[in-house]
Amino acid sequence: METNRTFTMIKPDAVANGHIGAILDKITKSGFKIVALKYTALSPQKAGEFYSVHKERPFYNALVEFMSSGPIVAAILEKDNAIEDFRKLIGATDPSKAEPGTIRNMFAKSIDANAVHGSDSDENAQIEGNFFFSAFERF
Ligand code: RTP
Ligand code: MG
Repeated sequence: METNRTFTMIKPDAVANGHIGAILDKITKSGFKIVALKYTALSPQKAGEFYSVHKERPFYNALVEFMSSGPIVAAILEKDNAIEDFRKLIGATDPSKAEPGTIRNMFAKSIDANAVHGSDSDENAQIEGNFFFSAFERF
């Protein structure tokens, strides 16, 4: 299992608000190398599949609706200790609780529209990266 890669999405709110460039800049300046990158959109079905681990949670329908509301940027990132370091860089799920300087503190408006996704384990990073990228799309 790779321990030096994570998967991220820039969510529809941050894309719509024009933050793609600033967020990618912050990610790369924080020592992550982009090894795969794609501008795309999730259908409601695809968003439901991506977040299926949450399907029993009360926020699932809102999450699926939001994540399919507009284009997103998907990326695989490489760095030592990628999962943990990236979760630190994005900050708490609720941006009002995210530390100053974190991506969610800087760019997110609410717990639903929270600017970025970050994988929570090596196993999920691999599953999520495979959801978006073929072997020919990562370098
Ligand atoms: P993500 O998967 O998007 O990186 O977010 P996360 O790990 O910080 O949070 P997670 O627990 O995986 O939840 C996924 C997304 O669902 C929404 N959520 N809403 N209302 C709520 O209590 C609640 N909890 C989670 C958030 O938009 C979160 O990013
Ligand atoms: Mg999560």
